[in-house]
Amino acid sequence: MSIVIITGGSRGLGASAAVQCAKRGMGVILTYNSNPDAAANVVNAIEAEGGKAVALRLDVSESASFPAFRETVRETLAASWQTDRFDALVNNAGYGLFRPMVEVDEDAFDGLYRVHLKGPFFLTQILLPLMADGGHVLNVASATTRVATAGVAPYAAFKGGLEVLTRYMAKELGDRRIRANSIAPGPIKTDLGGGMSQEFETLLAGQTALGRVGEPDDVGCLIAGLLSDDHRWVNAQNIEVGGGYMI
Ligand SMILES: NC(=O)c1ccc[n+]([C@@H]2O[C@H](COP(=O)([O-])OP(=O)(O)OC[C@H]3O[C@@H](n4cnc5c(N)ncnc54)[C@H](OP(=O)(O)O)[C@@H]3O)[C@@H](O)[C@H]2O)c1
Repeated sequence: MSIVIITGGSRGLGASAAVQCAKRGMGVILTYNSNPDAAANVVNAIEAEGGKAVALRLDVSESASFPAFRETVRETLAASWQTDRFDALVNNAGYGLFRPMVEVDEDAFDGLYRVHLKGPFFLTQILLPLMADGGHVLNVASATTRVATAGVAPYAAFKGGLEVLTRYMAKELGDRRIRANSIAPGPIKTDLGGGMSQEFETLLAGQTALGRVGEPDDVGCLIAGLLSDDHRWVNAQNIEVGGGYMI
């Protein structure tokens, strides 16, 4: 059985990805930060369908905690799957901040940086020794790197950095046959940034060729699909998943 670690797998896109990966027979380690009940609900939903999942706490903004997290992953792999390797890492955890550039202070800037760029960099680095050769790093970026959306400048800039980092991961990890890709969701109906008002949803749906905003499963299915062997030759790509947003 292949095993995937999904950060922020307790809600939104990550929760959908966790369920979709489990449906395809993968073992799932999902992480949460502040809401253990939401994580437990995802684990229960997976187990109710006959899958296997474990929820672990991880604050992606706290890179000092990553060595201890790796040890917890090592113990979890041994106890739950009798293995010392996992196969895929989905760097998905994140949060939104809607604030004009002129009002962004350094704390807000640094917080976004730690979660959306520094965290994925060092988490990947520290987990690589436990990743099987032939594995996959999948980073969740954003369509805001292509479409300048007023109010999300630092968020989008760090997501852009994550896209670039993805290509460097592919370059440097290729000798272990590890591929690295990023996906760039368009607007998806989750709790991100406090959720989407009806008015905003209508506006965004009107800017999308398929006439609606995305649902978490629109992205979760892509994540699970990309991790499968069917897509083994897709590497170093950024794939937008937005129903034709702002084309
Ligand atoms: N929704 C969209 O329209 C959209 C579009 C483009 C890209 N994205 C990206 O997709 C990813 C998932 O977003 P979402 O819409 O699914 O958001 P969401 O519904 O708000 O879920 C966020 C998830 O990330 C976790 N998380 C937040 N801060 C964390 C931290 N410091 N450390 C570890 N985990 C943390 C949350 O855990 P807790 O609940 O336990 O805190 C939760 O599991 C993010 O990277 C986001 O930037 C989303």
